[in-house]
Amino acid sequence: MVVGVKMKKLVVLTGAGISAESGLKTFRDMGGLWEQYDVTEVASPEAWRKNPELVMRFYNERRKVLFEATPNAGHMALAALQEHFEVTVITQNVDDLHEQAGSKSVVHLHGELRKAQSTVDSRLVYTLKNWELKMGDLCEKGSQLRPYIVWFGEPVPNMSMAAELAKQADIFAVIGTSLNVYPAAGLLDCISRDVRVYLIDPNMLPVSARKNFTFIKEYASVGVSLMAKELIDALNGF
Ligand code: APR
Repeated sequence: MVVGVKMKKLVVLTGAGISAESGLKTFRDMGGLWEQYDVTEVASPEAWRKNPELVMRFYNERRKVLFEATPNAGHMALAALQEHFEVTVITQNVDDLHEQAGSKSVVHLHGELRKAQSTVDSRLVYTLKNWELKMGDLCEKGSQLRPYIVWFGEPVPNMSMAAELAKQADIFAVIGTSLNVYPAAGLLDCISRDVRVYLIDPNMLPVSARKNFTFIKEYASVGVSLMAKELIDALNGF
């Protein structure tokens, strides 16, 4: 009986950059969301208390774009790597483009835009049928629904699971994130020292120059395929 060779674990941390070519705005690029909105007015519990209608509008606008968006070649190339590796995607993104592309193991650190959460019982989470969530949309216990998003200042429930996954990585990749936000960016400190790290970003990042990093200075739609070719060639002993 041929026992399947255990696949190497590829753990990937993605950010808004991998969804940029699908038409979803990033946060800190030119024209990014934090240039248009004050993050404290749309993405914090205080913002929700002060002006829930503005917060709802901010997420409705992004959800409307998401309902029209499709995965790009970067998401697809990452999903295709599941043929050769045990791939886990840890994403800061709240879109579901990794899942739409076929990635089977996706851990969302900052929530999911297609879902809404009860404001009286956080265990109650609902998948939205269309892009608009309104004041007056209630959970089964009669309380207002909020976007299922981890706001600044709120705990990141999946962080310990993500740290455990990063620790077990044989190969780690960072795609489309400026690594500005913690605890997500701290995942880099969880991986073992000898693990190769791929970094895919069209812009230089402070970590680009680290010695065990392979920096692919490309858009995700190009860079992920380049990384995939390198990884598969290495598997086949080229
Ligand atoms: N392909 C790959 N990377 C890209 C592309 C692209 N086509 N376009 C831009 N990038 C890179 C940018 O150079 C930048 O390094 O993606 C990164 C986007 O960084 P941010 O806009 O800071 O997004 P992100 O790192 O995901 O933000 C993290 O901050 O506001 C919070 O919760 C929000 O999850 C978000 C978190």
